[in-house]
Amino acid sequence: MIGRAAEILRRGGLVAFPTETVYGLGANALDIDAVERVYAAKGRPAYNPLIVHVADEGAARSLVSEWPEHASRVARAFWPGPVTIVLRKRDLIPAVVTAGLDAVALRVPAHPIALALLRAAGIPLAAPSANRSTELSPTTAQHVERSLGARVDLILDGGPTQVGIESTVLDLRGPRPSILRPGIIGARELEPLVGPLAAPNATRHEIPRPSPGMLDRHYAPRARLALFDASEAERIFAETRVLMARGVRVGMLLVHLDDPGGLEIVRMPSDAVGYAQRLYATLHSLDEAGCDVIFVERVPNGPEWLAARDRLERASTPN
Ligand code: TXA
Ligand code: MG
Repeated sequence: MIGRAAEILRRGGLVAFPTETVYGLGANALDIDAVERVYAAKGRPAYNPLIVHVADEGAARSLVSEWPEHASRVARAFWPGPVTIVLRKRDLIPAVVTAGLDAVALRVPAHPIALALLRAAGIPLAAPSANRSTELSPTTAQHVERSLGARVDLILDGGPTQVGIESTVLDLRGPRPSILRPGIIGARELEPLVGPLAAPNATRHEIPRPSPGMLDRHYAPRARLALFDASEAERIFAETRVLMARGVRVGMLLVHLDDPGGLEIVRMPSDAVGYAQRLYATLHSLDEAGCDVIFVERVPNGPEWLAARDRLERASTPN
C-alpha cells in the first residue's frame, strides 16, 4: 500500500495519509500541477499556503535558504512531532505552495505511516489537512472519505489520530520568533529553546494574512456552535429544552459543569491534551448524528488550553 501511494505521489496524484495531529492531503511539493490539485480538491483559496512535510531535519534544511541555530534545537526536541517551523524558502519550492510568500512551513510528522510514505516517495509532501476548506479537520480516514471522497486518489487508513488538532506553527524568521497557530506544544515548551516569543499578533482582519490558520471561520462543524460559561449554564440548559421540544437536535459538550439531566451531553476530558484529542472527533460525530446546534462549555483560561480555545473560537464565529 505504501509503495502504491508513493507511486501515485511521484506521478502527481493526491494521497491522504494519517499524521499524529490530523489527516493530511499530500502532493509532491515540487510539482506545481500536483499542488494545484490540492487547492482544487480542498476548494482552498490560493492565498492560504501549505505545510511541507519531510522525513527528517536534513530534508528540511535542503528546502530553506537559512537554518538558524534555534531551528536545530526545535527540530531535535520536537521532530518528529506536532511543531511546524516557518523559514525563508529556497527557489526550488514553487510559489504555489507558499501562496507567493518567500517563507515555507515545514514539519516532520510523528506517524509511522507518514514517515514510511515520505521515505518511500523520496519527495517533500505539501499536505494541508485533508478536508474541504473551512470544514473540520479529519481525525479518521472516514472523515477524509466523507469530506473529499473521489477528489483524492488514495486514502491511507491509520486509525484515529493521537493529538487530534493541528500542529503548532512557529515562525523562526527574524530575531523574535512567534507562534502563528497555537497547538499542543506551547510557549512554555518553546521559549527555553528559542527565547522569548513575540506577542501573538492580532491580525485577524488584515491582509496579507501571516497565517491562514488566522482566517476567522475555520475548523467549523456544519452545526451552529455556541460557547457558554458557567454563569450562563442555567439559561443555556433552559434554551436547549425549548429547542429540543421544537424538534431541534442539540448537542452539548461539558467539561466541569454537572449534567443537568435529559439533554444530549458529551462529557469532555478535563485535561487540555485529552480535550484536544477528542474535540474534532466529537464535533464530527455530532455533525453525523444530525445536530443543528452544539453548545460548548468554555474551556479554562490556562496557557495549556490556548489551542483548544483558539479552535473553539474559530468554530463558533458565525458565517
Ligand atoms: O498538523 C498539521 O499541521 C496538519 C497535518 C496534516 O500536518 N496540517 C495542517 O495544514 O494543518 P493546513 O494547510 O491545514 O494548515 C496550514 C497552516 C496555516 O494555518 C499556517 O499557519 C501555516 O500552516 N503556514 C503554511 N505555510 C506558511 C507560510 N509560508 N508562512 C506562514 N504560515 C504558513
Ligand atoms: Mg486545515
